[in-house]
Amino acid sequence: MRPHVIVNCAMSADGKIAGRDRRQVRISSDEDIARVKALRASVDAILVGVGTVLADDPHLTLKGMSFEENPLRVVLDSRGRTPDDARVLDGRARTVIFTSEECTCSWDGAEAARCGTGQVDVRAMLERLGGMGVERLMVEGGGEVLWSFFSSGLVDEYNVFVGPLIIGGRDAPTPVDGAGLPGSEARRLRFLGAEVLGEGVLLRYGTEDAQVHRG
Ligand SMILES: NC(=O)c1ccc[n+]([C@@H]2O[C@H](COP(=O)([O-])OP(=O)(O)OC[C@H]3O[C@@H](n4cnc5c(N)ncnc54)[C@H](OP(=O)(O)O)[C@@H]3O)[C@@H](O)[C@H]2O)c1
Repeated sequence: MRPHVIVNCAMSADGKIAGRDRRQVRISSDEDIARVKALRASVDAILVGVGTVLADDPHLTLKGMSFEENPLRVVLDSRGRTPDDARVLDGRARTVIFTSEECTCSWDGAEAARCGTGQVDVRAMLERLGGMGVERLMVEGGGEVLWSFFSSGLVDEYNVFVGPLIIGGRDAPTPVDGAGLPGSEARRLRFLGAEVLGEGVLLRYGTEDAQVHRG
C-alpha cells in the first residue's frame, strides 16, 4: 500500500505560491506556520521537487528534533540538479533524492534512489517510500510536482492556506502547474472544512483517490 499523501501549500488571494521571479514570498500567518510545523511533525516524510530546492533552499527539518526524530526528506530530482550546498544535504535528517534510472549523480548527505526513465516515476517512488516504512507523506510542492501527484491520482488530502496578498503575473507559480487539464476534465474535490488562521483561511479538501487514513 502506498503512503497516505497529504499536500500542503500556501497561496496568495489570487492563487500564486511565489512571485513571478519564483522567489519565496511569506504567505502564511503565524497561526498557519504553527499548524504546518505540527503537520510536519506528524508525518514520516516530507517531499519537494528540485525546483523548490533551487528556488527556496528549504531545510525541511523541525527545530529541536534529532537526526532520528526528523521526518525523512525526499527530493524529486530526475537529472541530479540538487546543489552540493543545498540545506537538504545538511546532515540534520535522513534524505533520499530520487532521480531517473539514467542519472548517475550522488551526494554526500543523501541517498540516491533511481526510479523511472526520463523523469522520476511518482507512483513507483511512492511504492519505494512505502517499503522504507513511510506511512504518511507530506508533499510541499512546488507546482510541477503537485501536478504529477494530482494527475496520477495520488493525493489523499489537499490543504491550502489562502493569505491576504495579491502577487499577480501569468507566469507566477500556482499550487498545481504542469500541463493542466481541459476544463471539462477538471478533477472534483471533496470539501472537508475551512478555518480562519490569523489573517488567512485554511481550506481542506479530500479527493476521490483518497485511501483509508492509517493513523
Ligand atoms: N507557497 C508554497 O506553499 C510553496 C511551496 C513549495 C514551493 N513553492 C514555490 O514553488 C516554486 C517551485 O515550483 P516548481 O514547479 O518550479 O518546482 P517543483 O515542483 O518544486 O520541482 C519541479 C521539478 O522537479 C523535478 N521532477 C522530478 N520528477 C518529477 C515528477 N515526476 N513530476 C514533476 N517534477 C518532477 C523536475 O525537474 P527534473 O526534470 O530536472 O527532474 C521538475 O522541473 C518556487 O517558486 C517555490 O517558491 C511554494
